[in-house]
Amino acid sequence: MSLTTAEIRNKLAAMPHVDLGFFPTPLYRLDNLSEDLGVNLFIKRDDFTGSNLFGGNKTRKLEYLIGLAKASGCEYVFTYGATQSNHAMQTIWAAAKHNIKPIVYLAAVVEPDMDDLKANMLLDTIFGAEIHVVEMLEGESFEDAERRSFKMGKEHIARLEADGHKCLDIPMGGANAYGSLGYLQMMVELTEQMQSPAGRNTFSELPQKFDFLYHACGSGGTMAGIVAGAKLLGMDTEIHSVTAMGVGDSYPASATRLANGSLELIGCENECEITADDLIIDQNHYAPGYEQPSEEGTEAIRLLAGREGILVDPVYSGKAFAGLISDVREGRIPQGSNVLFVHTGGATVFFAEKEIIGQF
Ligand SMILES: Cc1ncc(COP(=O)(O)O)c(C=O)c1O
Repeated sequence: MSLTTAEIRNKLAAMPHVDLGFFPTPLYRLDNLSEDLGVNLFIKRDDFTGSNLFGGNKTRKLEYLIGLAKASGCEYVFTYGATQSNHAMQTIWAAAKHNIKPIVYLAAVVEPDMDDLKANMLLDTIFGAEIHVVEMLEGESFEDAERRSFKMGKEHIARLEADGHKCLDIPMGGANAYGSLGYLQMMVELTEQMQSPAGRNTFSELPQKFDFLYHACGSGGTMAGIVAGAKLLGMDTEIHSVTAMGVGDSYPASATRLANGSLELIGCENECEITADDLIIDQNHYAPGYEQPSEEGTEAIRLLAGREGILVDPVYSGKAFAGLISDVREGRIPQGSNVLFVHTGGATVFFAEKEIIGQF
C-alpha cells in the first residue's frame, strides 16, 4: 500500500532533525540535451542543497545525522572517507554549524600535499576539523586502508568516551538508516513538486511521472533512500544507481538493510519491504577506478557543461551522467521517455589533485 506525501512528511517530522539545506531544490528540463538525445531530460539540482557554497547529497542525510547527534547530546562526531571526500567535508561543515566538534579519519587514496592543501581537504581545515590522514601502506587496497581508519576512529571514540564525552560515529558516506531518510524525503519533495503548482522551484513544465531516474552511487545510502521513498509512494519509476567504484556481492544486501532500516525508523516497515530486486546497480561506468577519471566521464562532463552550463564531477556525478547517456544512445532508455538525473554534487573536486580530475 502506498502513502501520500503528507502522511510520510508527518512520520518524518517525528525524527531527530536539524535544518541545513534549502528545499525544494530546483527541478527543470534540460532543453538542449533533450533535443540532442530524443528524451525529455530533467535534472534535480541537489548540488544546490545549500547552505554552504557546495551543496551535494550529504546535506539531506546530515539533517538527520546531525539531528541525531544533537538529540543524543553528542559533543563530537566522527566520520571517514578518502582525503578528497565530499561526505567528510560536508559532515565537518554541518557539525561546526551545530556546535559539534568534527573529527575525521581520511584514507590517502591520492596523497595530499599537506603544505598545499586543495579542494575538500582545504575546506575541511577552514571549517575547523580535527583531521587524521591515514597513509596507505605498501600494497594496501583502499578498502583495507578504510577498514584501518574505522578502527582508528573507534579507538579514538573509546578514549573520549572513557573521559565522559559523548560521540556519534557516522559511517563513511553517512550510510546508515538515519542518513537514508534524507533521500526518502527527497522522493517526497520530488512528488510534491510534480503534484502541486506552488513552490515548485522550476521554470519548466513538469511531467506527471518520470520513467527513469539516474543518480551516482557510492556507499549506497542515497540509493537506499530513493528506492525506499519511491516504493512507499507507489512510484512507477525505474531507478538506476550508477556506481563510482566496484562493489562486492554483499552490496545489495547492505543497501536493502539501509532502505528497510529507514522505513522501520518511520514506522513504515509494514507498508513495504525493499528487496535486492528493487535495485538496479550499474557498475559499467566507474572504470578505471574510484577517483580515477575516465574518457567517458570526461565526455559526459563536457557535454552537460557545454550544452546546459551545468558542472558534474569526475568522481561521482560525471560517471553517473555518462551511464545515463550511454543508456539513451544504446536504446535502453526508449526515445520520448521522461528521464530524471539527480545531481548529487561534488564540484569541489575540480579544485583537487590533477590525477583525480583528468584532462580537459
Ligand atoms: C557527489 C557525490 N555523489 C554521489 C555520492 C554517492 O552517495 P552515496 O554514498 O549515498 O551512495 C557521493 C558520496 O560521497 C558524492 O560525494
